Amino acid sequence: MIFLMDLQMMILDVIYFILRNSVRIVMRPRTKPIDGELVLITGAGGGLGRLFAQEFTKQGAEVVLWDINSSSNEQTAKLVREMGGKASTYTVDVTNKEDVYRNADLVRKDLGRDVTILVNNAGVVAGERMLDCPDEMVERTMKVNCHALFWVRTLNPLVYKTNDISNMTSANFVECLSLVNDYCASKFAAVGFHESLAHELLAEQVEGVKTTLVCPYIVDTGMFEGCKIREEVELFLPPLEPQYCVEQAMNAILIDQPLVCIPRLTYLPFLFRALLPWESNVVAYRFMGSDKCMYPFIDTMKKQASNFNEATSGIPTYKF
Ligand SMILES: *[C@@H]1O[C@H](CO)[C@@H](O)[C@H](O)[C@H]1NC(C)=O
Ligand SMILES: *[C@@H]1O[C@H](CO)[C@@H](O)[C@H](O)[C@H]1NC(C)=O
Repeated sequence: MIFLMDLQMMILDVIYFILRNSVRIVMRPRTKPIDGELVLITGAGGGLGRLFAQEFTKQGAEVVLWDINSSSNEQTAKLVREMGGKASTYTVDVTNKEDVYRNADLVRKDLGRDVTILVNNAGVVAGERMLDCPDEMVERTMKVNCHALFWVRTLNPLVYKTNDISNMTSANFVECLSLVNDYCASKFAAVGFHESLAHELLAEQVEGVKTTLVCPYIVDTGMFEGCKIREEVELFLPPLEPQYCVEQAMNAILIDQPLVCIPRLTYLPFLFRALLPWESNVVAYRFMGSDKCMYPFIDTMKKQASNFNEATSGIPTYKF
């Protein structure tokens, strides 16, 4: 009897959320105020990280900027301060968990409070074919894009104990494309981590912690420079403007939306992957030129690496 009642409730809830979310597409819910919140952004020195810092500043939040490159991180801080915002910078290698732990303590000591919003933005890609990709680069991608998500939990360990904590965001790109298998593997891992954490928080009834998973299409930050799909398709699906992408992501964060794909058209691949036969997806990829879209990107990376290696001493290049 109870089972049947629960089943009925569940079905009604499922329908309710479908309707509610459909309405929300047209009538956006009100965004929540975040002035005074302490926001930590990883990979704050580059592309999306810098824009996130500026957007959070516009909303009145204080930002803590982490990046491995102190000079680009300082530039972000400067921009934030010019806007009248408060920023602190830390030079952190998120692949090094001791470094993350040490800096998490430092942030707490320096600012006297816990981070309340965490934006896991740092990401890298190797840009090599499977067999050409050096071991260190594979490991590096996994460490930055996936392992680091575990180490930053020390920023607010209270997350499992109290009802008053941080909100988490991860930026991800969840399409599987050939030639970036390090990246795709790490991002799938990140999505798995994110969803599991979201379920855990709900199961343990940790109120006040919201998670937002951001899945943008390729963003024009230079990370995938050269990447190109079929021209006719690109008219409908051009690389995302970084500013647009961050604004959409911000909006999702501020209305506690659990998942956002930017642009909306990119919800379709999720659906297709689940519903259609593998071969159907393959021909669709081929039609759109997605199958080989990373070829020119790999060439770009090769050129950059050889320029870089001539100038320095053979250290592989990584892009944030
Ligand atoms: C660090 O950032 C600066 C400024 O953006 C850039 O010129 C430099 O190449 C970066 N260093 C590395 C190692 O990527
Ligand atoms: C984040 O969590 C804090 C609690 O620490 C809460 O006050 C705030 O409303 C939340 N903000 C966002 C943007 O989720």
